[in-house]
Amino acid sequence: MENPILENIITLYKDKKWKEIIYFFNTCNTADTRKLLWISPTLQDISWITSIITENNLRGIVSVGCGCGLLEWLIQQNTDCDILGVEIDQSWWCSRYSPPIFLKNMIFISDPESVVEVPESYALLLCYFNNGPVFLKYLKEYKGNVIFVIGPDAGQNRYTNPLPFDQQFANHGWKLSLSKEIVLSKDYICIYVR
Ligand SMILES: C[S@@+](CC[C@H](N)C(=O)[O-])C[C@H]1O[C@@H](n2cnc3c(N)ncnc32)[C@H](O)[C@@H]1O
Repeated sequence: MENPILENIITLYKDKKWKEIIYFFNTCNTADTRKLLWISPTLQDISWITSIITENNLRGIVSVGCGCGLLEWLIQQNTDCDILGVEIDQSWWCSRYSPPIFLKNMIFISDPESVVEVPESYALLLCYFNNGPVFLKYLKEYKGNVIFVIGPDAGQNRYTNPLPFDQQFANHGWKLSLSKEIVLSKDYICIYVR
């Protein structure tokens, strides 16, 4: 078998065994799973995200830079809200070398500068997003009130833009509402509101 981790996840995915995917993922070395997803969330982390969705009456989430959409699919299994993924790198994510696309509701954009309209009742999600200028464009265009930012803890030698505790949010009128450590992969989820 070429990639036993991926093969196992695909088998569990076909059976919609999302909790088992999380348990399995949590036993893997993060260096081996980053091709699929940069973070290693526990069931508790996913439930925490769901509680934020419920408390804020969110009708959906738009995840920009969602990769194969595994995180988004896992969140979707635990909530009724609508989840849309946005990606730019179609040539990679649709190639035969990449993991399969897990999230069904996903769009590929072709213009690297373009920003997808996010409905007001939807949150914006940026997990290990890596395009600073486009992030700022989303901050400018987004009319809603909740942003999930997921990225590395300080000192991890991993780069994202925005970072979870990024000063850019305060500079643009956003306030850090809550944060949660993703212990296994040494990451943070931050919730910004306004
Ligand atoms: C480090 S990867 C993170 C993927 C996934 N969110 C994860 O956590 O595993 C960053 C992703 O952002 C995508 N990306 C970069 N610029 C983008 C843009 N302007 N619009 C949509 N996606 C973009 C890249 O193609 C890449 O898949």
